[in-house]
This record gives sequence, structure tokens and C-alpha cells, in this order.
Amino acid sequence: MANAKPCKNKVQDKVAIVTGGASGIGEATVLAFAENGARGVVIADIQDEKGHKLAESIGANRSTYIHCDVTDENQVKSLVESTVQLYGQLDIIFCNAGVMSFGKQTVLDFDLDSHDKLFAINVRGVAACLKHAARAMVEGGVKGNIICTASTAASVVRDMHTDYIMSKCGVIALMKCASYQLSGQGIRVNCVSPGTVATPLVCEKIGMGVEEVEKLFEPHYCLEGVLKAKHVADAVVFLASEDSEFVTGQNVVVDGGYHFHGIIKYDHVE
Ligand SMILES: NC(=O)c1ccc[n+]([C@@H]2O[C@H](COP(=O)([O-])OP(=O)(O)OC[C@H]3O[C@@H](n4cnc5c(N)ncnc54)[C@H](O)[C@@H]3O)[C@@H](O)[C@H]2O)c1
Repeated sequence: MANAKPCKNKVQDKVAIVTGGASGIGEATVLAFAENGARGVVIADIQDEKGHKLAESIGANRSTYIHCDVTDENQVKSLVESTVQLYGQLDIIFCNAGVMSFGKQTVLDFDLDSHDKLFAINVRGVAACLKHAARAMVEGGVKGNIICTASTAASVVRDMHTDYIMSKCGVIALMKCASYQLSGQGIRVNCVSPGTVATPLVCEKIGMGVEEVEKLFEPHYCLEGVLKAKHVADAVVFLASEDSEFVTGQNVVVDGGYHFHGIIKYDHVE
């Protein structure tokens, strides 16, 4: 029997942008795109030092860091234009930059200025990236792939972080509208919804280190192990590749079955 080698070139020769690419899930996805044969990976973030270092680690010919604050539509437009200028076209965008609630954000103590700040990044920022990437794909005749980061938070209720949950519901709604509206041009649009990954966003929010966070969540997964940024990146690569060529408008949950924790077990029923 012939040895079946794992195929690692799922995005061979593609050009991708990753927003929020300097850290956490974005960083893992930048590396996964590079490992899977991407011709150009553009890291878009506001953490310049981290972004430049990551691009250098991949190689100047295959990766570039571009400072881009996703709340500024002009910066997003220029990010997409620079990518097309540098690499000839845009095949993939991972609209991933996001932040957690600034404070508890319960309904009774809702700070609406903080809400607006969060929405400017988590919802408006994703809409701006999606809009300008889709325009470049349509103009270039590219049947591209757009993937956005939502969250399992979009399908739960919490006693706090109301605006964060609202924002991720918004991302899923945007993804669904975009997938329908862009289907005629052959552009696919999907979401990934990670469970809790011990990235700087989470560790800083709950004031714990990586190991502590992972220990806290480990008992709650159905699958054995701990959710890592790489698991999410692998799902993004799947959605960006031909392996998912007839998949659009979907929200792919990557959480090791964590969301089943609300399941009712009828152990006592015969
Ligand atoms: N870590 C988790 O448990 C988890 C779970 C579900 C969803 N998410 C989502 O995943 C995405 C990535 O988060 P992460 O956990 O990797 O966190 P992270 O903090 O490690 O990475 C987020 C990146 O976004 C960048 N960013 C923030 N504001 C920006 C702006 N205005 N313009 C451009 N870049 C900006 C940050 O500089 C950072 O590099 C976010 O959308 C987050 O909501 C995370």
C-alpha cells in the first residue's frame, strides 16, 4: 500500500490577510497559512513590534506586516490595496481582530461609550475588512474566501460582557448576509467560533497565566485535551481551502464539545 502523506499545502500560492495577526489565534493562523504554502501572508495589526517580528520569522519574501487599525476604514482600504499591489491579488482574508468587553458590561451598568468602542473593532472593523476585501476579489475576478472570527459566546448567555456577546452575534449575522450576497461571484464567507483559548486577550481579562486558564477549562471539554489557537487556525485553513469548496454561510464551532456542558443527562431513566 502506498504511504499516504498528509497534505500540507492547502492554500498553495494563495495570498492572505490576517487581521489581529500579531497575536493569539491570528498569529497561529498566519503560521498555518505559511506552513500550508501561501505565497504571501499579510499580518495586519496595531502591535507593530510583534507583527514585524512574526513577518520576519516567516521571511520577507512571503510575509509582510502592515499597521492597520480596523476601526479606520481608510487604513483597511489601504491594507487591501497594498496587499494587491505587493502580491498581485487577494485570495483570503481572516477578519479576526477583536477585543473583550472593557469592564463587566452588565445591562444595568452598561457603559455605552465602551460598547461603541468595542463595536467599532469587533463589528464595524470586521464589516470594513469584509467590504474592501470582497471588492478587491470582485474587481480581480478572484473566487476568494472570507473567514471571520465570531465566538461560542454568541450562543450563550452570561451575567456580564453583554456587548461582547452582542458583537459576536453581529459578526455571524454579517457573515450570513455576505455569504448570500457574494455567492454569485463565487466568494465564500464563513465564521469560526472558538471556545476559550488562553491567548493574551483571555489571560489579561481574567488575570491568569496560560497554564492556569487551560487548567480551568480542561475539565469542561468533551474531547480530551486543551483548546489551543492552532486548533482554531486549522479550522480557518480548512475554510480557506478547496477542502471546503461547497461550504458557505457557516459558523464552525471549535471548542472540543465544550458547548455540550448544558446538556441534560437522563441517567436515572431506564
Ligand atoms: N481567545 C479566546 O478564547 C477567544 C474565543 C472566542 C473568540 N475569540 C476572538 O478571537 C479573535 C482573536 O483574539 P485572540 O484571543 O487571539 O486575542 P489576542 O489579543 O491574542 O489577539 C487579538 C489581536 O487583535 C489586535 N487588535 C485589537 N484591536 C485592533 C484594531 N483596532 N485593529 C487591528 N488589530 C487589532 C490585537 O493587537 C491583537 O494582536 C478576537 O476576535 C476574539 O474576540 C477569542
